[in-house]
Amino acid sequence: MNVLVTGGAGFIGSHTVVELVNAGFSPVIIDNLNNSSESVLTGLKNIIGFDVPFYKADCNDFEVVKDIIVKHKIEGIIHFAAYKAVGESVEKPIKYYKNNIGSLVNILEVMQVTKVKNLVFSSSCTVYGQPDHIPVTEDTPKKKAESPYGNTKAIAEDILEDVIKSGEQMSIISLRYFNPIGAHPSAEIGELPNGVPSNLIPFVTQTAIGKRNKLVVFGSDYNTVDGSNVRDFIHVVDLAKAHVSALNLLKGKETAFYDVFNLGTGTGNSVLEIIKTFEEVNNLKLNYEIGPRRSGDVEKIYGDVEKASKILNWKTEKSLEESLKDAWTWELKLKNNNN
Ligand code: UD1
Repeated sequence: MNVLVTGGAGFIGSHTVVELVNAGFSPVIIDNLNNSSESVLTGLKNIIGFDVPFYKADCNDFEVVKDIIVKHKIEGIIHFAAYKAVGESVEKPIKYYKNNIGSLVNILEVMQVTKVKNLVFSSSCTVYGQPDHIPVTEDTPKKKAESPYGNTKAIAEDILEDVIKSGEQMSIISLRYFNPIGAHPSAEIGELPNGVPSNLIPFVTQTAIGKRNKLVVFGSDYNTVDGSNVRDFIHVVDLAKAHVSALNLLKGKETAFYDVFNLGTGTGNSVLEIIKTFEEVNNLKLNYEIGPRRSGDVEKIYGDVEKASKILNWKTEKSLEESLKDAWTWELKLKNNNN
């Protein structure tokens, strides 16, 4: 099956391209390189041994996306391309609604015209807000998003549900990611944050390597095991493999179909536990201090992943230790390449 991967040069997208190839799919990448780099394509080639067809294009562009789909006889789409900085979305909501919602609607319109049936959409556990009970299942009620970014994911899920309800002959899966971390074990691809990272792990690795002076832990007075926030940190390769499982499920569905799945490990770890484990597995000391809470952060969340295990026949294979080792090996590789 030829699969269009929008945002395929990004962190999760690039790792998914590798797993698609491993599973016998033929990916084609569209990425406007807004928050990624062409060097990712070299990393991909070093892993899989050939050049994946790549288009530097914007998936808001109807004609361009349509032409690529027709040219490559695309049968499935994985739509990663989106903005994802929570803080920036609060400052620039229009930018986020236009890009994240606009590109999804464009992709759906192109699917209608070209009769592409299968879509996997990148959603987020952000749709649960601060849940009343954890772990969250897919039936846990969605809550008002804390940020415009989070709201784009909630709205996108509603759009997809409405499209299927209308009887449109498409099969769609939304995947609700928890916190993807780590890098490919080859250290050929990994997370490439633009500027100062806002996510925890790139900030940890950049501090350990000396690019940042110190890590600030955002709050130690939460009602958690040690007062810091709790998240479900999942190795990006495990997460990538779930997209292959999702496509395989869609391939077998004949009629209009929509479903959502949590993708996490099923376990929560606190920010302080992450720091301690990072120090232990990589045998180093991290310069960090406790600071004030970051606004908009939920106290604790992790996912129940039974549904993905049963229906997608998928589960995580990699440990937190492996994730934090791979993240560090990747940062060392970036340093060697003067990045
Ligand atoms: C957030 C979003 C998530 C989104 C992701 C993408 C929410 C609730 N979650 O995840 O939906 O997909 O961003 O960017 O909006 N931390 C520190 N110091 C730092 C950086 C982070 O202590 O310098 C802490 C945070 O307070 C948080 C944890 O580390 O508790 C993880 O933070 P981060 O990596 O930014 O991810 P989320 O906020 O969980």
